[in-house]
Amino acid sequence: MPNQPIPSTPEPYWRESAELPSFPKLQQSLETEAVIVGGGITGITAAYLLAKEGVKVVLLEADVLLNGTTGHTTAKITTQHDLIYDELMHHIGEEKTKKYFRANDEALAFMRDYAANVSCDFSNQDAYIYTTENKNVTKLEKEYKAYVKLDADCAMADTLPFDLSIKSAIMIRNQAQFHPISYLNQMVQELQEMGAEIYEHTVAVDAEAFDGGAKVITRDGSHIKAKHAISCSHFPFYDGNGFYFTRMYAERSYVLGVKTRQPYPGGMYLSADNPTRSIRATPMNGEDLILIGGDSHKTGQGFDTEKHYESLELFGKVHLGLKETVYKWSAQDLITLDKIPYVGPVTKGKPSILAATGYRKWGMTNGTAAAMMIRDLVLEKENPYQDVFCPSRFIADPSIKTFLSQNLNVAGHLIGGKLDFGSRKKIEELRDDEGALVTHKGQKAAAYKDQQGCLHLVDSTCTHLGCEVEWNHGDRSWDCPCHGSRFSIDGDVMEGPADKPLKKLNTDEA
Ligand SMILES: Cc1cc2nc3c(=O)[nH]c(=O)nc-3n(C[C@H](O)[C@H](O)[C@H](O)COP(=O)(O)OP(=O)(O)OC[C@H]3O[C@@H](n4cnc5c(N)ncnc54)[C@H](O)[C@@H]3O)c2cc1C
Ligand code: FES
Repeated sequence: MPNQPIPSTPEPYWRESAELPSFPKLQQSLETEAVIVGGGITGITAAYLLAKEGVKVVLLEADVLLNGTTGHTTAKITTQHDLIYDELMHHIGEEKTKKYFRANDEALAFMRDYAANVSCDFSNQDAYIYTTENKNVTKLEKEYKAYVKLDADCAMADTLPFDLSIKSAIMIRNQAQFHPISYLNQMVQELQEMGAEIYEHTVAVDAEAFDGGAKVITRDGSHIKAKHAISCSHFPFYDGNGFYFTRMYAERSYVLGVKTRQPYPGGMYLSADNPTRSIRATPMNGEDLILIGGDSHKTGQGFDTEKHYESLELFGKVHLGLKETVYKWSAQDLITLDKIPYVGPVTKGKPSILAATGYRKWGMTNGTAAAMMIRDLVLEKENPYQDVFCPSRFIADPSIKTFLSQNLNVAGHLIGGKLDFGSRKKIEELRDDEGALVTHKGQKAAAYKDQQGCLHLVDSTCTHLGCEVEWNHGDRSWDCPCHGSRFSIDGDVMEGPADKPLKKLNTDEA
């Protein structure tokens, strides 16, 4: 069969293959016990766990449920989070590293139990991290030693069942994979049965803490009063002087769903090399759909994004016998200073406003672990992992270096972006289906000429904190390199932290 071109519209397999109920927009103010903002794995699992405990829950979603990062994940459920444990042992010590591991391992066990009664293509799989480069062999050996200290069920390996020559690999047994939307859809149904209120198309724009509670304010001016307000909005919708925008950055990755000539051997794979490669399969109409992920970069700094899909496709052809690409999609996740998520009170003085974010592309277990911590915080129950994940924890020195380099990079985009008028295109130079930063009436602007030659022109200043957006051709979106906000060709917010659209500019005068 001749190779098909990579599909032009990015759409994840998960969203195309599952049907979700829809929910109304919130039209009035409400009072409840817990108001949760964000309908991804964290928000839905937290809502489910709280409702199970008899807590009255309201869940707000800006768009539709499960169309954020959770709808665009590769959905490996594993404690093998890239190379992390040796590094954590050095930075936070063995005891806290064990806590990070156990929190995720318990989340995996919870998901396995829950999935036992849900039709969600859940299957147990071994997870491998491998390297094809000599220079990374020592890193893997150190990681293996850390696994042994963690009592992980693991082994070293020197081959993989692909046409891929590796130098070394570590396998961790009895991990899992699933269809994330089918799994979470079951929780949504149970939430409805338990009387939880769910609202879509409802954007939370602010929160306030008061004595004994908190309230969330929506863009339309509704107020939801509760004992706890919980941000599960990926980037926290409310900062509360936690300065999250200085403590996290967003990284984008790409995924292809492909068919291959040879049968898939089973297992989940991740390379420790650069660029990263992530591989797993999922059942699709009686055959295997192989997911190939990777090519990560800081959001807004990926340049020609189509190239990322092409490099994944090339990898698939060379090593996996790729014969047809049927899906492509991309998404981003947030990375914290010390690579451990922030879960707990948004700031020290505001115990009634909780936040959960920063999963570093390991949000299936981390998001579930966060939901379990949120449940315990709301119920005022002790949780053994809170100290490791608490957003106001002390951060050890090595990550401060990361903090400085990440923020210098962000500052570069704030300052450099504004001054860099010279390299801008002229609007009349744009070809059909091309986006670029342009100069329009002496002002910086973001212009996209669509496939029909129609011009879409918006202000290029991100409405979060004023960085310059960059064109993402793979997704036809404007992405902000500073904290990962994303906007449509007409400036509408696709992903926060920005909650206001880019200003539309008059195309008649262009
Ligand atoms: C390409 C890719 C592959 C990945 N693969 C894996 C993997 O194999 N295994 C793994 O463990 N992890 C993986 N991850 C990470 C994982 O998918 C994420 O960490 C996780 O899905 C994040 O879940 P969340 O609930 O925090 O956020 P989301 O799923 O993004 O949900 C947040 C929701 O909040 C809503 N929202 C935002 N702002 C507001 C507001 N102001 N008001 C109301 N609602 C709002 C959004 O619309 C969204 O629906 C991957 C990530 C990427 C990018
Ligand atoms: S996302 Fe923060 S400035 Fe754009």
